[in-house]
Amino acid sequence: MNATVTTDQKNLSSSLSQEVEKLTVSAQEALSQLQNNQVEDGRFTGWYNFPKRKGFALADEISSYVDSIDFAYDLVVVIGIGGSYLGTKAVVEATKHTYQGIVPGTKPLVVYLGHHLSEAEMIETLDLIGTRSPVVDVISKSGTTTEPSIAFRLVKQSLEARYGKKEANKRIIATTDPENGALLKLAKKVGYQTFAVPTDIGGRYSVLSAVGLVPLALAGVNIRQLLEGADSIFTELETEALAKPCLDYASFRVAAYQSGKKIEVLAYANPKLMYFVEWWKQLFGESEGKGGIGLFPTGLGITTDLHSLGQFLQEGDRCMIETFLSFDEQPYSVGGIDKVLRVPATEDEDGLGYLESKRVEVVNQAAVEATQIAHSDGGVPNVSLTFPVLDERGIGQMFAFFETACAVSCLLMKVNPFDQPGVEAYKKNLFAIMGRPGYEDLQKELMNR
Ligand code: PA5
Repeated sequence: MNATVTTDQKNLSSSLSQEVEKLTVSAQEALSQLQNNQVEDGRFTGWYNFPKRKGFALADEISSYVDSIDFAYDLVVVIGIGGSYLGTKAVVEATKHTYQGIVPGTKPLVVYLGHHLSEAEMIETLDLIGTRSPVVDVISKSGTTTEPSIAFRLVKQSLEARYGKKEANKRIIATTDPENGALLKLAKKVGYQTFAVPTDIGGRYSVLSAVGLVPLALAGVNIRQLLEGADSIFTELETEALAKPCLDYASFRVAAYQSGKKIEVLAYANPKLMYFVEWWKQLFGESEGKGGIGLFPTGLGITTDLHSLGQFLQEGDRCMIETFLSFDEQPYSVGGIDKVLRVPATEDEDGLGYLESKRVEVVNQAAVEATQIAHSDGGVPNVSLTFPVLDERGIGQMFAFFETACAVSCLLMKVNPFDQPGVEAYKKNLFAIMGRPGYEDLQKELMNR
């Protein structure tokens, strides 16, 4: 049996390939530690194998809840930041119509709040909410993060003014810590529907828990297929030979870092993956960037960024490695109907006659190959990761693959994959600067600075 994901490492120098090969032994040990719950800070490994242990039962519970909603909604408002919204946005953008909720026959529209503090953007989102029939999922593990808390107050105020408290409360779901926190306290007091953020899963690893499953079910995503995809990877990881692509990728990153590389570029050839890359950036950046080490994760959209960052990739400082994300199949299906686009035959002033009747996706794949060769020639070590297909199952596979690869990479770099002391520092400073009770000493210190 072949592994679901294939890796192509032909664009690595033989010395880097040898280092990768050597590291895969330690990578296998790190994976075993993860599987046997033997990592040092093992409190946050609940995401590993989550679908089988809890996810499928949870998906049934969430689907029943969504089916029981007794008002018609055409807008899902997802309030959260970082790990509390990026995975959801990644799946919605990758698997649903880009203009869902706008193109007739597709709904609901999905919008996001609580991931910024821009008044201008909030005003416009609130304007939109006022024109639609919304359901709101406020997601915060801690229940105290400033951005989603402010956004939630605003949305709650707007809903209560429009519908009255009783109807507004029916439209609000709180996804938060099951035992503690301000959001849980409020939800219990006023009777919001609640779902739990598992205490053993950190934000950036939480997309397959209620954090992602609830808003995704509301948005019409097939959450069972998402979990099936992830589960298929966790099952493969049990077999050493099938785990190899994941271990090779983790080893490639670490070997490249040890050889002096500083940046990993994740290249993708479909704008529908932009938010998957944002999710990936948080996963690797927050997990690995500690104690003065780690590869800085960034993205490259093919072909858009070839007309901007492409110059740097080709000829700038050779500080980066590149990982190409690709798929065996590129079908496009709307409502069960497959669609393809071919370059039309027309007057040939633009000189594109040689492309006539070729699928646009064929040109897109050629652009990826052209880029891989150009960047190899330019001295950027690169690998390709190929997943079967970009659908709910496929993106579930991608989550499980990258979460595992990330944890393994961090363990190889001797970094705790599951804490984020740097994020906490900013959160505390913001509390202090804005005068939150209990932060008086820090406020004085910061004001002096
Ligand atoms: O991965 C993480 O832990 C963070 O990015 C959190 O997801 C983010 O800070 C939001 O935290 P919370 O869900 O507690 O509001």
